Amino acid sequence: MENLKILYDNTAVNDFAPDWGFSALVELSEETILFDTGAKPEVLAENIERFGIDPSEIDTVFISHNHWDHTGGLPYLLEKNRIFELFIPEPDCPEFEENLPESVVCVPISAPTYISERAISTGIMTTGMEKPAYEHSLIVSTAEGFLLLTGCSHPGIVEIAKKAVTICGEELFLIVGGFHLYKSADERIIEVAEELKRFTRFVAPCHCTGERGIELFKEIWRDRFVEAAAGVEIPLE
Ligand SMILES: [Fe+2]
Ligand SMILES: [Fe+2]
Repeated sequence: MENLKILYDNTAVNDFAPDWGFSALVELSEETILFDTGAKPEVLAENIERFGIDPSEIDTVFISHNHWDHTGGLPYLLEKNRIFELFIPEPDCPEFEENLPESVVCVPISAPTYISERAISTGIMTTGMEKPAYEHSLIVSTAEGFLLLTGCSHPGIVEIAKKAVTICGEELFLIVGGFHLYKSADERIIEVAEELKRFTRFVAPCHCTGERGIELFKEIWRDRFVEAAAGVEIPLE
């Protein structure tokens, strides 16, 4: 069964550990992709163990952007797995390569790129910040349609969704990740929540979407709102 497991989030269900940050695991029949790594190695370790995941089976690591709450869990993974490909925004590649063993292949991303048969990077988009200046997001082709995973959505979640739809050529199935609305006023959150309806059937806002943002999305999207918190498993077929 193909599915998406939320490994790391500001909130958690059952006995999973909550902490500010984001990480999710895409389990496909032919490959396993780790999207971001959360903030703390020990929290990532705890939640991965709770799920019963074998970290040595991760083939690919996708780092959305070079922020501590998305890269911090990497040391844990390196302890358990020395052979994987790491996809990161091109400008951040040298900094990562310095700290990686030779067996880890660092793949710099600039333009939209197929990173495997069913996974595509949106290509880097500007964050409007000095560092990290770029962020990319992950598109995965599933039996339900295209899944879009976002880290913090610093380039803007609507802009990212728009780009993903252009790449895919059709409406998305689900968007999961941080929408970066935790400092936004209600009017702005409502505007974004309405605009996103043009691009996807379901949404699962979490992480830096913020408590209020998640609450408003829930009200506006109703049965098209999907909960995402550490410990949640979303079937992809
Ligand atoms: Fe973040
Ligand atoms: Fe960030």
